[in-house]
Amino acid sequence: MPDCKEIRVNTVPAYTAIIGPSLLKKCGQLLRKAISPCHMAVVTDSAVGPLYLETVTESLKTAGYEASAYEFPAGEEHKNMTTLSAILEFLAKEHLTRTDCLIALGGGVVGDMAGFAAACYLRGIRYVQMPTTLLSAVDSSVGGKTAIDLGAGKNLAGAFLQPAAVLCDTDCLRTLPQPVLADGAAEAVKTGVLCGESLFALFEDGTLKADPAEVIARCVAYKAGVVERDEKEQGERKLLNLGHTVGHAIEKCSGYAVPHGRAVAAGLAVMARAAERLGWTNGPVADRVGRCLEAQGLPVSTEFSPGALAEAALADKKRSGGSITLVVPKRIGLCELKTVPVTELLPVIRAGWEA
Ligand code: GLY
Repeated sequence: MPDCKEIRVNTVPAYTAIIGPSLLKKCGQLLRKAISPCHMAVVTDSAVGPLYLETVTESLKTAGYEASAYEFPAGEEHKNMTTLSAILEFLAKEHLTRTDCLIALGGGVVGDMAGFAAACYLRGIRYVQMPTTLLSAVDSSVGGKTAIDLGAGKNLAGAFLQPAAVLCDTDCLRTLPQPVLADGAAEAVKTGVLCGESLFALFEDGTLKADPAEVIARCVAYKAGVVERDEKEQGERKLLNLGHTVGHAIEKCSGYAVPHGRAVAAGLAVMARAAERLGWTNGPVADRVGRCLEAQGLPVSTEFSPGALAEAALADKKRSGGSITLVVPKRIGLCELKTVPVTELLPVIRAGWEA
């Protein structure tokens, strides 16, 4: 398709992520290549529904699908068991069968929430990701992680279920407020640190603003490779958690008032400084990462103390018994997993805390 980039994700089953303009208007036609006529239940939230739901359902119906829609209130605080239960009851009321399909239309919360509903309903039905934020476009819409939050923490109940397709309409990014765009830039910069100079340079030279489709496609292509090699996060995929140990701790300490991307940005900056100050890097990395994050309007420090962050991080699911696995940026394009005793986490956070 002209103007569009297509990335194949070779999991089992395999699927294609299409990135480009005006995709929601023709989503029905595009999906017909992967999914024959069935009932499509569109799950969205109160921020995205009013903007795009009608366009999507019209296109689905024109392409021969039956379409219904469920909208839940926007916000991480609704990514919970109550919303999951309401979506499942809706799917049952609409008589969706195993041959039908769910669509996640929205940002990361909608994708995680709807994806998990698809994984639970009738022990698993297909779903399509239609990311409408930069964060979901570059990261969460690809790779099949689905989850809800529990009282005890974020993403504590979930499943791996790869989507049947990903349609990323880059026109959606135009309506995003600057802080929401910046939030997505954090996951994109994280991917740049993992992937290497050629992607990281796109954040330093302004390509993210000038040509977001190019950056999204490059991030998705990188992530697709990682997911293909390690779908269930047994090894290499853990690298994608760069910045997330401290990031999740910041989110938790703030009662989830700090958005995910801003928390990951600060977490990434803390880890880069800690790695450098503890002599784990192969050269300077922290200043460059910090400057790049600040240029996107993102924070590089946090008000929460190292002690509070360590305590919150040790309740995270990434802890394994008496040890925790950190993602250490050694240089742009080279990150390593380092498993340390839980008692070493506080000194590591202390080392990187001061900006
Ligand atoms: N967001 C990290 C992952 O999908 O593994």
